Amino acid sequence: MTIYELLLDKFKQALDKIGAPADTPTPLTQSTRAEFGDYQFNGAMALAKAMRQKPRDIAEQLVQAVELEGIAEKLEVAGPGFINIHLNSQWLAQRLSDAADDGRLGIEPESPQVVVVDYSSPNLAKEMHVGHLRSTIIGDAVVRALEFMGHKVIRQNHMGDWGTQFGMLLAHLSDKLAENELAETALSDLEDFYREAKVRFDNEDGFADRAREYVVRLQSGDAQCARLWQQFIEVSISHSEEVYQKLNVTLGREDIMGESAYNPELANVVAELKEKGIAVEDQGAQVVFLQELADKEGNPAVYIIQKSGGGYLYSTTDLAAMRYRSFKLDADRILIFTDARQALHFKQTEIVGRKAGLIRQQTSYEHCPFGMMLGSDGKPFKTRTGGTVKLADLLDEAVQRARQLIAARSNDLTAQEREEVAKKVGIGSVKYADLSKNRTTDYIFNWDSMLSFEGNTAPYLQYAYTRVQSIFRKAGVSADNLDTQLCLQASQERALGLKLAQFAEAIKQVEKDATPNVLCTYLYELASLFMGFYEACPILKDGVAEEERNSRLRLAHLTARTLQTGLDLLGIETMEKM
Ligand code: ARG
Repeated sequence: MTIYELLLDKFKQALDKIGAPADTPTPLTQSTRAEFGDYQFNGAMALAKAMRQKPRDIAEQLVQAVELEGIAEKLEVAGPGFINIHLNSQWLAQRLSDAADDGRLGIEPESPQVVVVDYSSPNLAKEMHVGHLRSTIIGDAVVRALEFMGHKVIRQNHMGDWGTQFGMLLAHLSDKLAENELAETALSDLEDFYREAKVRFDNEDGFADRAREYVVRLQSGDAQCARLWQQFIEVSISHSEEVYQKLNVTLGREDIMGESAYNPELANVVAELKEKGIAVEDQGAQVVFLQELADKEGNPAVYIIQKSGGGYLYSTTDLAAMRYRSFKLDADRILIFTDARQALHFKQTEIVGRKAGLIRQQTSYEHCPFGMMLGSDGKPFKTRTGGTVKLADLLDEAVQRARQLIAARSNDLTAQEREEVAKKVGIGSVKYADLSKNRTTDYIFNWDSMLSFEGNTAPYLQYAYTRVQSIFRKAGVSADNLDTQLCLQASQERALGLKLAQFAEAIKQVEKDATPNVLCTYLYELASLFMGFYEACPILKDGVAEEERNSRLRLAHLTARTLQTGLDLLGIETMEKM
């Protein structure tokens, strides 16, 4: 149990004891300032009316009723009826000792759920660009947090490997192969390849017809066409895999479940919706009218599931995917990471899917939207010439910049170590800069701030970690041999200790809300408190008593493990020196 859960439990019991109604809200929070204690319970105000008493009186009764002996050393009623909870420092220290002795830092797994996570999901017709960065790394961080908490995660890389644009691409590829070019060479730059095909499609006589013919052949399962498609997909997937490897994300081949995989299901999804009277014909197309999303004039939203020509859409595929995930994969939760512009699509998909019974009632369907990555001009991030930025190029630049940064710092790293640090810092910086922002808002991409050793950045956290490692190298001791009691005496020790004890609370919030930025904020605050502690509380200086020294070493070691575990959950690597 986290401290939060423990306190919540106790306050629920206390509410019961003083006769509060059963559905009383229980607003418990971590305190934002030390003078408000460590946690605050602010439920008394809302109870005043129901119980016809003054909020402060209710707060006083709760303070009497709540059983926190040995856990809290002081409870005080403040303001209109806030209850400030000051935890007992010995109790806190004991919790930290237990966490330090535990391989999971004292964090118990939850009762496992099956969570399907749809993330990254690039379109294979083109190269991965910065728009896919967010989905890939936010999704991956959430996946890691879910797995850490004991859930069974099923990754689904819903790659865009199907659709009419493939007609033009395959026609172009077929010509290249006829000229004896290898598929790998022809497709070495997907952006160029796409552009060439598009130019031919728009200008060359007969090419557009051939492209359409390819679409029909592909959909009807023509073998030669399927082989060509396979070749294209194969090369494009390997481009993505290169990016995944650079990014240190956990997606593999086995996680790919592209749009094409649902092709055989689309006709029966449409048939089922028609049968149930949910979809109707409208100007030759099959559509669902959604009264629940009507506009101001009362016109229902229109959700198309089959075009008048018979073609299926993104929406049809998402309905099929929903059914597969809920019924075949047995998902308790389905999380989908795409940019916020798709929010309406997923809202509609859920309404339609629930009406049609394509999702079990108990499966929760959660679109997790994110904002855009912007350039310094506040407009969507582009190259200097206005093109889309390839993700692979961006990541190479990050490592290059980190290399220069590391070279400019005085350190005793070998060339090989320096290269390793450059990679971890470069990639870590790009990821952290993104993950640390509120998921739903746009953010401005900025090399200088993300690579800074000051502030809420990856290098700052990575540096804090190496700082502890260097303390241990200097001390010449191993953390395993420190069986001293932890002691939280100085205010900086106390503050660091409390933060350490709240790690699980941060992870659980990521798990619940799919917001890795909560974990970033936590780690940043932790590292800052550690720096404060390190400055105020000497560890290896002469005159520090052995007990004290060892307790501080343990605290430092626990900090390092927490930083490392937290960064790992974000998909960011640490190093011993930098
Ligand atoms: N391929 C889509 C894109 O690049 C994202 C797919 C997200 N997943 C889904 N089930 N629709 O925008």
